[in-house]
Amino acid sequence: MSLDRNKVLQVFNHSADRYLEKFGNLSAFSSILDQLLKQAPQNARILDLACGPGNLARYLLDQRRDLQLLGIDFAPEMIELAKKNVPEAAFECRNVLEYEMTTSEWSVILISFLLPYLKPEEAIELLDKVQRQLSQKGLLFISTMIHEQSAWIEQVSSENPDRKLNSYYYSKAELLDILKQSGFSLLEELQVDNPEISWPKDIYLLLEKV
Ligand SMILES: C[S@@+](CC[C@H](N)C(=O)[O-])C[C@H]1O[C@@H](n2cnc3c(N)ncnc32)[C@H](O)[C@@H]1O
Repeated sequence: MSLDRNKVLQVFNHSADRYLEKFGNLSAFSSILDQLLKQAPQNARILDLACGPGNLARYLLDQRRDLQLLGIDFAPEMIELAKKNVPEAAFECRNVLEYEMTTSEWSVILISFLLPYLKPEEAIELLDKVQRQLSQKGLLFISTMIHEQSAWIEQVSSENPDRKLNSYYYSKAELLDILKQSGFSLLEELQVDNPEISWPKDIYLLLEKV
């Protein structure tokens, strides 16, 4: 099983409105975003990689008007929605893997629910790049799905059972190891358990550039 990037783009492009309806409310992990907001410097420059409909951007800017946020996503419908949802931020329609950043440009980088849609080798390359582009003591927020063992899994959408995507789920140990190897230290961790199923789980991590 592997990744079909065109399918990822199509699926998210066609479900942008439904995605915002379902995932616009960030209460499950707002506590860790609040930690990030406490630590982010005044006028922090934030890069939101795979920003979707701007759901994280909206939350952060509602709490802190001083933040300067740029969101990147390759689905045009997601970017259109993000621009409407967060008119005070900037958004660009691009593949994050092709996005060139300047060294030490960002105080905070967000990678929220992107990792399932990258090959593990692409994720490592992206994390290395992110580490170089963060300013000293820069913050990284990562959220993703984890499983008992790292594996490609066919993910079926709850809102549309016809929507199936091959997605990469990390084990928690492998994810933490990759982040350590890429030069990040863990500041906060939040794991959301679903009482009905043991796996997968959502994990939210706040890290600092070493
Ligand atoms: C599950 S959504 C996450 C949206 C938002 N970050 C959140 O946490 O709710 C995944 C997003 O990643 C985007 N995406 C996936 N692969 C991408 C890539 N290579 N470059 C840019 N965007 C990508 C999709 O278009 C989609 O908007």
